[in-house]
Formats: sequence, structure tokens, C-alpha cells
Amino acid sequence: MATAYDNAMKQEAATDDSGVPFVAVENLRKVFAGRAVLDGVNLSVSRGKTLAVLGRSGTGKSVLLRLLIGLERPDSGSVCIHGQDIAGLALDQLGEIRKRIGFLFQHAALYDSLTVAENVAFPLQHHRKEMSKSEQADRVNQLLAEVGMEEDLEKMPSDISGGMQKRVGLARALALEPEILLLDEPTAGLDPISSGEIDELILKLQRERMMASIVVTHNLHSARTIANRLAILNEGKVVIQGSFEDLQQSDIGFVKEFLKQS
Ligand SMILES: Nc1ncnc2c1ncn2[C@@H]1O[C@H](COP(=O)(O)OP(=O)(O)OP(=O)(O)O)[C@@H](O)[C@H]1O
Ligand SMILES: [Mg+2]
Repeated sequence: MATAYDNAMKQEAATDDSGVPFVAVENLRKVFAGRAVLDGVNLSVSRGKTLAVLGRSGTGKSVLLRLLIGLERPDSGSVCIHGQDIAGLALDQLGEIRKRIGFLFQHAALYDSLTVAENVAFPLQHHRKEMSKSEQADRVNQLLAEVGMEEDLEKMPSDISGGMQKRVGLARALALEPEILLLDEPTAGLDPISSGEIDELILKLQRERMMASIVVTHNLHSARTIANRLAILNEGKVVIQGSFEDLQQSDIGFVKEFLKQS
């Protein structure tokens, strides 16, 4: 039986790297309180590809994702989405770009007072006003079926497990059919079986939708399963970027140590 990793490799072989990357970051620098959290980061991700970003706590992984959707502004360097630098954009232009990016926040961040279905409907209500209520409801059902949550429409976030909350967060991130998907720790806090199920779900979504994805994770096994490429961040820089085998073959002391501890 093909493993998730084999499938990811097949997906790699079935796509090419031509054209403008969906996401490209150059020389990105972000300073907080005099400390450069990101200090010259370069990354790019093309359609159908997944980059996993690894690194210890506090190395700026979440900041990187927030820069990609314009929730933070860079001190220098560029963030290009579909070739367009978003740094100088006005809020309304940024809003247009954000609609094309699905984002799963580190702490699932569902609205506690809304049901599962209402959470997923939220982006549609705000950005797909042309859809009728029943069209929106159909779409919500379809999205929740895609993540295996079609039985739990009326439940409240507090009544479902962490893994289920992540699934609902994923369904919400997919509501506007994004071309780019950013996932911040999609398996953190989950047991190994639930983590594996979320990884399988991410792989399935990638196969079906061919998005460019960036997944921040502490979980090397998960990174290896879902990503074509892995990047390790440390002290504001990308220490190494490549396939899991590239990382394993690296002579860089930090990389060897990181792999040993992960
Ligand atoms: N808005 C902010 N103002 C000041 N400092 C910030 C802000 N956002 C992040 N930081 C700091 O930037 C650093 C990187 O934070 P970030 O949340 O990106 O880390 P992380 O790599 O995602 O960590 P973790 O793995 O624990 O989620 C931390 O030292 C954090 O305190
Ligand atoms: Mg984080």
C-alpha cells in the first residue's frame, strides 16, 4: 500500500515548477523591540507544492505567515503573492489578496459562540454576498463533508475535539476556494492518530485543489509526510531548505542536531 509519503512524492512528480511562484519572499526582515525575528528570509512556493517551515519556538514562524497575509508589514524585503508585492498595498487591495489565501491559525481560532456550520459560513457571508442562503448552506455542507465533519453541523466548538476543531478550521480556510493555503501548526496538541488523519486530509486537499501551501509545524514526521520541501528557520534565517533527504545529508551542525532532537 502506498504511504502518505509515497503519494506526496508522486504529487511532486506530477507537477512542475514553471511560471511565477504563488508565494515568494525575498530578503524578508521583521524587527520587534530591536530584535530581528526574521533577518533576510528567502522562500518560494509554486502551485501544487507544499513547503513545511520548521524551527524552535519563537523563531518567527507565525510571524512569517502573518507577513504573508499582510497582518504584519515587513521592515524590509518583499512578500509577493502571484508576483505582486503586497507591502505597499492599501487595505482594500490587501483584502482582495487575502480572499485568495486560506489561513488556519495556530490555535484553530473558531468563533466560540458560533456553531460549526456558522463558522464555515462566516467567510461566505462576508465575501460571497451574491450567494443565496441556501447556496451558502449547500457549500458549507460540501466543505464539511470534505473534511469529514458533515455530521457535526450544529455542534459548538467547545463540544468537539481538538482534531475536529482543526478540521472545521480547515473547512473554513477553504471556503473561498483559495489558491494559497497557510497552516500554522495544524497538528499541534493532537495525538499521533489524529495528527496522521489531519496529514492525510491535507494531502487529499492538496491533490484535489493543487494549492500552493505553507505548513508551519514542530512535527518532523508530519512535515515529511505532507511537504515536498522543508525549511528550517533559526535566528532569523533559513538554515537549510530542501527535501527531507537533503536535510538528512546536510553537514550543518545545527541541522544534524535539529533532526536528532525532532
Ligand atoms: N506583535 C508582536 N509584537 C512584539 N513581538 C512579537 C509580536 N509577534 C511576535 N513577536 C515575537 O516574535 C518572536 C517570534 O514569534 P512567533 O510567534 O512567530 O514564533 P513561532 O516560531 O511561531 O513560535 P511557536 O513555535 O512557539 O509558535 C517571539 O519572540 C515573539 O514574542
Ligand atoms: Mg507560532
